[in-house]
Parts: sequence; structure tokens; C-alpha cells
Amino acid sequence: MTSIAVEKAEAIERAKEHFGKLLIEQLERVERMKTAEDWLDYSKVKPIIIGIAGGDGIGPIICQHAQRILAFLLQDEIKNGRVELRPIEGLTIENRAKQMKAIPDDVLEQLKACHVILKGPTTTPKKGDPWPNIESANVAMRRELDLFANVRPVRVPDQGIDWMFFRENTEDVYVLGSKGINVTDDLAIDFKVITTQGSDRIIRLAFEYAKKNNIKKVTVVTKANVVKTTDGKFLQVAAEVAKDYPGIEWDDWFIDIMTAKLLDPSRRSEFRVIVLPNLYGDIITDEAAQIQGGVGTAGSANIGKRYAMFEAIHGTAPRMVEEGRAQYADPSSIIKAAAMLLNHIGFVEKAQQLDMALDICSLFERKIQVTGRPGGATGAEFAEYIVETLQSPDLASKWQSYQ
Ligand code: IPM
Ligand code: MG
Repeated sequence: MTSIAVEKAEAIERAKEHFGKLLIEQLERVERMKTAEDWLDYSKVKPIIIGIAGGDGIGPIICQHAQRILAFLLQDEIKNGRVELRPIEGLTIENRAKQMKAIPDDVLEQLKACHVILKGPTTTPKKGDPWPNIESANVAMRRELDLFANVRPVRVPDQGIDWMFFRENTEDVYVLGSKGINVTDDLAIDFKVITTQGSDRIIRLAFEYAKKNNIKKVTVVTKANVVKTTDGKFLQVAAEVAKDYPGIEWDDWFIDIMTAKLLDPSRRSEFRVIVLPNLYGDIITDEAAQIQGGVGTAGSANIGKRYAMFEAIHGTAPRMVEEGRAQYADPSSIIKAAAMLLNHIGFVEKAQQLDMALDICSLFERKIQVTGRPGGATGAEFAEYIVETLQSPDLASKWQSYQ
């Protein structure tokens, strides 16, 4: 063999070895999914521990506002020991860079001692940033706590938009996103992973949601015409799961045309529950949030059977911090996430109250407005406005009057 041929053969061997290790990891993950425990029943847990991890940039500040509201809504439960609010230390880019870990071990331990987590945005370094190029804390947390469902609601009532996205959260190009191979200097390969178990559990959750909420249609989104093996599996599992829900109609769309249809006023209100693999879900939920008024307005739930994490869908806004405007950051998204958290752990009525107060304060009444700049209200003032609104005796009728 020529020396070039030898080099190639060696590169291929190295890649095969690397790929072999990944396959072992993924097959082990499949086994873990097969034997996973059942859903945690929060009504049997005392105290329910809510961990609060501020994150980076504006994160700690907006989390404080959300915490203020949770402490208000849960004051009795905190007093009688049914709920505990617990600060989580060390989920900062400084600490993560120092320990060269997406989530340092002691932080992961603190997280695992909680039942649910409210998390501020965290810095995700990319190549060329001043920070070492460690993995995203979000992606790592979703994987470590097996938070397989990324549930993102988007509503624009006056346009008939009421979407609930179920984005698969632990597979696809994300699961091996930091484990691709540069086979040679010229050939880079990443991996997309879809499993039967991983697809089944997210698709089933979407159908269950539709069933519980009396919604008659579920939309499955893939690119199975091109990405035949993995997206093909997702679609095939959807067809299987759908058989268990005879009362619910389902349709399948390709991601490209779906992205367009979300902008089509004559069609978009037909979509209600949308389930899709990780990357398509990542992209389309930003588009959907923008239609609602921007990514700052959307909340996001990351749900697994044992743990759940609730977060704002926007980033850390480093520019606001640099320019000394962090106190003017809009906490709506993380407050929305706090409402989803309350709903998830069984405080359905409190969650509804918070949703209504949020609608009143940020959409309808708008006595004060957060603009992100010194002319506007501070996040703390907005949180106080929410707390005041929550105390109004006629909250529900007030909300109703704006419908
Ligand atoms: C999101 C974010 C994350 C993702 C980033 C920060 C890694 O965009 O939660 O949608 O891609 O999942
Ligand atoms: Mg995203």
C-alpha cells in the first residue's frame, strides 16, 4: 500500500473504534430506557424539593424574581413542610470552566437531591469564545436527568394559536453532539441517533396530553423523505403509538413545509399538539416563540419520569450585563416556566393563577412595562406587580374580562 492508503486505512480504523464505543454507550442507554422507573407521584413526596439554579448573565436576577413569586404562592406549603425552595450553587460558567465539566459533579449531586428544578439560562461556549469549549449545561442536564420531553407551549389567543410542542430532548444530533469524528483533516462526521424507546416515550406523552385535554389532533414532524433511517423510525413509531389512541387523528409533515405553515395565517391555527425530534424541535420552537412575541415570552419544561427542569427559553443576555442593564431584564419567560413547574408538581390552581396574572401584567393591563432598558420597569418591579395582581380577589374575572 502507498503511505496515503495506509494513512487512510488507519484513519478508518480509528473512526471505527470510536464508533464502536459510541454504539456500546447507546445500546446501554436503550437498555436503561427499557427498565426505567415509572413516573414519580408528587402527591406522595414530602417535601417536594424545588431547586433553583440561577445560571449565568441575567439568569440569577430573573430567577430571583421567579423565586419571589414561588415563595409567595407556596407560602403555606413552605411553612408546613410540604415544599422546600432550595438554592443550587455552582452552575456558573466560571465554575464549569474551572472544573472543565458541563455540570460539575457536586452540582449534579445537588440537582439530583431535588425533585424539580427552576433554571436560569447558562452560557454555552462555542469554538472561539474565551471559555473552554465545554458542552452545554442544558444538554448535559437533559441527558444526566433523562429529561426526555421538552414541552413548549405557544399561544396567541387573538389569532387562534394554541400550540403545544413536544420536542424530543435526549436523542437526535444532540446526544452525540460533542462526540463526532474528524476522520481525516477533511472529513468530519457527526451522528444522529433515534431509538424506538426514545421515540415511543415522547410520542406517547404528546398523545396522552392530547387525550387529557380533549384535543383531537397530533401532528408528527420529521424529514423522513430524506433522513430515511432515523426520521423514518420516528415516523414509524408514531404510527404504532397512534393505534393506541383511536379517538385522536394524526398527520405527518416535513419540517421544511411545517416551518412555512406556522407563518400561514389560514392554516396555522389547525395545529395543536406537535411532536418532533430534537433539532427540528429546537428550531421550530424559536420560530413559534417569535410569533408569540419573542423568545423572551416563552417558557420551557424539560420533563422526565423522575426529574423535571423548567427554564426560560432565551439566553444569558451578556450584553445587558455588560451595559449594566441586568435589572431591567424581562423575567416573563422564567415566570412562565415557574407556572409550568407548579402545574407539573400538582399545584394546578396556583399555576393557573400565575398564568392569568402573567397575561394581565404583560399582555392586557400592563400598568408597568419591562423594556429591557432604564426607561422601563425593572424585573423586580414587574415581579411585585405580579404578586399584587395575584392578590386581587377577582383575579379570574379580571382575566376573563380581557378575553
Ligand atoms: C434550547 C437552546 C439549547 C438547545 C442550547 C442552549 C443548547 O437553544 O433550549 O432550545 O439547543 O436545546
Ligand atoms: Mg433553542
